[in-house]
Amino acid sequence: MDNSKIARPRLERMLNGMPLKMQNKVTQVLENISLVAEIRDPKVGISMLPSAYRGLWQKKGKSEDGVLMKSGHPVHFDLNYGSDFPEMYDLYRRAVANQWDGEWQLDWSTQVDPMNPEVPILGSTPFIPFDDLEAEGIKLSAREKQELTYHFSAWMLSQFMHGEQGALYASAQCTESVKWVDAKLYGATQVMDEGRHLEVFLRYLETKLERMYKVNDNLFVIIDDLLTDSRWDIKFLGMQIMVEGLALGAFSTMYNQTGEPLLKNLLRYVIQDEARHVHYGVLALREHFTKNLSGTELREREDWAFEVAMLMRNRFFAHEIYDEWFAHKLSRATWNRLMSESPAMTKFRSIMFQRLVPNLQYIGLLSPRMESYYEKAGLMAYVGGKNASELTEQDLLRDNDKLAEQAMKDARNAA
Ligand SMILES: [Fe+2]
Ligand SMILES: [Fe+2]
Repeated sequence: MDNSKIARPRLERMLNGMPLKMQNKVTQVLENISLVAEIRDPKVGISMLPSAYRGLWQKKGKSEDGVLMKSGHPVHFDLNYGSDFPEMYDLYRRAVANQWDGEWQLDWSTQVDPMNPEVPILGSTPFIPFDDLEAEGIKLSAREKQELTYHFSAWMLSQFMHGEQGALYASAQCTESVKWVDAKLYGATQVMDEGRHLEVFLRYLETKLERMYKVNDNLFVIIDDLLTDSRWDIKFLGMQIMVEGLALGAFSTMYNQTGEPLLKNLLRYVIQDEARHVHYGVLALREHFTKNLSGTELREREDWAFEVAMLMRNRFFAHEIYDEWFAHKLSRATWNRLMSESPAMTKFRSIMFQRLVPNLQYIGLLSPRMESYYEKAGLMAYVGGKNASELTEQDLLRDNDKLAEQAMKDARNAA
């Protein structure tokens, strides 16, 4: 039986008797403990602890200037120079041919007014559950709702930007560590891509939304964990499959929903690059996982991928927005519940798994041993979808509402 279900009402009663500030402090500590406690596999939990400590307790991601991360990964210097991965070389040629310049190819003269509801930045599916907030006694005026929606858009795009900075360093590290020279050539194009993504998101936030948020603590933990893990294939798995897979789902949802033409165009360019990045990840890892790893090493990767997928599913609650808007009038625990149940968040999660699960299957991390875990988490509904090596640009750009709806239904049935 699930003990957390018994413990929760008692905990809620206990919390309700405290002043709001103290309630929130306790909830935050419990969240942090449960992040590590939720992890089934102690090896994965232990490997993540230093990053969790830096991100959640020391709040390094909220520092003023920057954070030093020690990576310790080996650099593979190639002396062979032969053609060692033709499919990867093709990807490299495609990447070179499709380079773009955000300065000239995006129309930065576009006027953006994030307070104009006629041109929504994030689209019409609400991320903020206004009705549920009202049921909790928080009534916002039409202007406040628009302002909150604007802030949430800036929060979301800020997280994309932080993710791009992480991807820039992870791709540089992978370029050094990977052993195929064709993959190093490809990696060099990805480093350029990620630099450009960082540039365009930063410029959009600075000059169009004129608002920026610090990195979310949980996103910081994942990025810190990847950049400080010395195993190149874990970096690859984390960044190219998990984080990029998540980003690709998020970008394509936003691309289809935004009413703002400059952002739409920016996302279209970024999606084309990201699709190549995930493609690169599945090619390299399928080769490595199916040919080079022992059974124990493979099982460790299977567990790691599942745990990170669960963390990504349960852990993006926009606490920076909560702190700014509601910390004095709504409990953090209630906010977490409202956010995780909001229609747009549910849809985001669904699209993310639609992209992620087929990739995990393709690279060999969804073995029969793991199926029952994925089944329990309601994720087997996504098995059999197209993986990154099969997806076309059109697949990624087309409106995926219907797919998302079906996948959500299947996931609910399975849960
Ligand atoms: Fe990127
Ligand atoms: Fe990327």
